[in-house]
Amino acid sequence: MNLSSLVPPATTKGSSPPNSSRGSGNSVTSAMNVAGVTRIRRTDLQRIGRLGVGAFGLVTLEADRRTGRTYALKAVSKGYLAHLRMEYSVLNEKRILKMLDTPFVVRLLATYNGREHVYFLLEAALGGELFTTYERLKLYGSEVHAKFYVACVTEALGHLHERNVIYRDLKPENLLLDVRGFCKVTDMGLAKITTGQTFTMVGTPDYMAPEVIDQTGHTRSVDWWTLGVLLFELMAGKAPFESKTGNAHETYSLVKKGIETVRFPDSLRPEATLLVRHLCHRNPEARLRVPKLREHNFFRNFDWAGLVALRLNPPLVPQVRGPRDLTNFRDCEHEDPQAMPYQDTGSGWDQGFEDDTLTVGAAAAAVQAPMLPMPGSSSSRSAPAQGSPTSSGYRHMAMSANGGVQVQHQHQQQQQQQQQPKHRVGSPPCSPRTLQARQVTSSTARLGTAQAPTSARGGWTQGHSERKMGTGSFVPPIARSASNMQSPPSSPNLGGC
Ligand code: ADE
Repeated sequence: MNLSSLVPPATTKGSSPPNSSRGSGNSVTSAMNVAGVTRIRRTDLQRIGRLGVGAFGLVTLEADRRTGRTYALKAVSKGYLAHLRMEYSVLNEKRILKMLDTPFVVRLLATYNGREHVYFLLEAALGGELFTTYERLKLYGSEVHAKFYVACVTEALGHLHERNVIYRDLKPENLLLDVRGFCKVTDMGLAKITTGQTFTMVGTPDYMAPEVIDQTGHTRSVDWWTLGVLLFELMAGKAPFESKTGNAHETYSLVKKGIETVRFPDSLRPEATLLVRHLCHRNPEARLRVPKLREHNFFRNFDWAGLVALRLNPPLVPQVRGPRDLTNFRDCEHEDPQAMPYQDTGSGWDQGFEDDTLTVGAAAAAVQAPMLPMPGSSSSRSAPAQGSPTSSGYRHMAMSANGGVQVQHQHQQQQQQQQQPKHRVGSPPCSPRTLQARQVTSSTARLGTAQAPTSARGGWTQGHSERKMGTGSFVPPIARSASNMQSPPSSPNLGGC
């Protein structure tokens, strides 16, 4: 097994300023010619297994047959998009992903236009969702972990905001860990390019800022509110405005009462409590943000430069036994997204969606992707190049994701050995999803998802699993089972709603 290819080099640069060439994201580079890959066609890809299931389609792990490198392929049903008149949403998502160039947001490598689906080829984050990791390893309450992940997200949000993108969908379910343990934001489905105010009620109820609920106009400040909610959730094991009955309206009314009425666990250090309060300030403009956020006492002595340079050792190195290892993901093999045949109306919305020539940033990410040993290569002797992820290959190899240098804390290793299932045994079940139904409230069409709860708290919380099962981006405004919601604009513009 070629460990160096599984683990991206620590020398990877961090965020770059918006005007740097690294951030341009649309010029074809010769840099990747070094690796001989200038484009990745859909026909180059071979499916390994599922990473997730959403209402709009599957996310699968795919190997490039030529190089053995693996990537995540997110399929979005064109029939479903057309049904909901959400075509603009994927165009917006693509446009935003192409603007980004940071290790703290999952990178877009290519896009494809199929008959029934459009596809996003993304770098694969094989450490799995932060949410799953917290649930499996019971990390809630660990300040070391929360600090590191909140710092990664801070860098991601700073990068987005430099490019005038509001994210609007922060939650542990949208955070992924790479093989080294760095945290990446994923899913730009609700993101929006704007320099001013925007009015649509979007997001996940537990994470919505009061001005989003009130629809009085919101700005990028909402993302700093959600960062406060995230920090609280990682420390307390529940979101601060979570309703006991699971009713979204109750959540909204708790949000509107403000962070002052929330009881913080006694275990939280005052620095953490204060930071949550400064992020969840009622006045959007008063919310703490970068650069001052980095200087908050909660982050005293935190090595921000080391983080941005990816030199910092993450507090947890996920067990990833190889580039095909799916054990950090929930088993979704038996779930299927709703099938909805696509009938092309001739509007041409999907023309030009296909874009498989690698850009500078994409090429860099492509050659850092986890790699399968190729037949004939020296590394191929140590692990099979073919075979299913459940065959005896990678999963039984004791392999360190950081190339042999064990940086995990000992207690974390023990915890992982004891708690992390090797074959997704004990994985939280995938809830059946009731796919989006169109709901109309007042003048705005909203999209809904209803889900069944999974299990009681202590394992998978109802709120969490339901929120997750929205997978994406749209959820009903009323029910607690709503995960997030979004209203399509009346015309298919690229800027979202
Ligand atoms: N699920 C959704 N996107 C993913 C990605 N890029 N890597 C791993 N799992 C994912």
